[in-house]
Amino acid sequence: MIKKKYSNAAIVHNDGFFGIGWPVTSSLNLEDMKIELKKYFIEVSLIDISELQEHEIESDCLYITSSSQNKNIKKYYEDVLEVKFSNKNNLMPRYELIRAHDNKGYQGLLAKKLNLRFTPQYYTYKSFDVKDKTVMKGLGGAGSSTVSMVKSNSDIHKQTLKMGLQNTGLLDLLKNSKYKLRRRFKGENYDGKRYDINELYVLQEYHEGLSCDYKVLVFGDKVFVLKRSVRKGDFRASGSGLFDFEAEFSISLLEFSLSFKDDLVAPYVSLDIIEEDDGTLSCIEYQCVHFGLMAQIKAPFYYEKNNDNWVKCKNNTKSESLLVDSISKMVEEHACKIS
Ligand SMILES: Nc1ncnc2c1ncn2[C@@H]1O[C@H](COP(=O)(O)OP(=O)(O)O)[C@@H](O)[C@H]1O
Ligand SMILES: [Mg+2]
Repeated sequence: MIKKKYSNAAIVHNDGFFGIGWPVTSSLNLEDMKIELKKYFIEVSLIDISELQEHEIESDCLYITSSSQNKNIKKYYEDVLEVKFSNKNNLMPRYELIRAHDNKGYQGLLAKKLNLRFTPQYYTYKSFDVKDKTVMKGLGGAGSSTVSMVKSNSDIHKQTLKMGLQNTGLLDLLKNSKYKLRRRFKGENYDGKRYDINELYVLQEYHEGLSCDYKVLVFGDKVFVLKRSVRKGDFRASGSGLFDFEAEFSISLLEFSLSFKDDLVAPYVSLDIIEEDDGTLSCIEYQCVHFGLMAQIKAPFYYEKNNDNWVKCKNNTKSESLLVDSISKMVEEHACKIS
């Protein structure tokens, strides 16, 4: 007999926000999520992330969390969730996937560890010598805002300087200049190093000559695809606004996306995928929580794998039920005990 491992579910939110809904500034509807969860769990509760630190984690409850795009709140989620769930397996999605959110450096490290088909990249805070065209990315951001093309060490330097000015407070910038001058003129070696501006970034292998990329959302076995063309005279598609929801997509793109999600052991995922001339597919970015739902909301169709066949279905889906159904499917597949 198959026995369900979790009788109850709790939605972890911050100030009533569980990101993200549509449009991107809104939350998913918590009441709708509760109603959907009640189909699978006996009791469903809401818990604010700040209450979680005093809360005793219940082993028969599945805690469903998102993350935040506010840097400090994201860090807060990570701190609380890591400590509270370090020796547990009832956090959904699992902790590594929360860490990967809005962090392209972590995404690459995790993809390598899991042997995923992710474009090769290097994560660093140091200066680096590039010889050929390379894609440089800050860790967070969207719509290509921190993505640029670099060809030399000095291009990287310019970009990190720009990031530093954007990300560092005025006081730290002043202290950085003060200690830099002191080191230069007084020859002091380590003085004030903690005020150095060491921006974190990734260098990713450049796929030349692409006209588009694919934004793919996978919920359980349901796949939503959006084709995005690159801006005129640019290599970047994200944020271009040149969207096509109705293009024909290859079966290999659907297969790639579904197995990428399964290999991440995630209930749902948002993938940015590129296809080279020879048909090779590669992921350049992924998010397992708090990702934009435009493809799910606007695509007229989605694709579902049914007994080894892909079926094109009319899209009348609702974000909250997709999320909950995917979670339930994953619990069935991964967290059920045969007794
Ligand atoms: N390695 C790459 N080779 C070629 N184009 C890339 C590569 N990485 C990103 N791009 C292009 O840049 C865009 C933005 O990159 P992405 O990593 O998705 O950043 P963002 O978080 O801003 O969406 C992508 O939509 C894609 O068109
Ligand atoms: Mg992207």
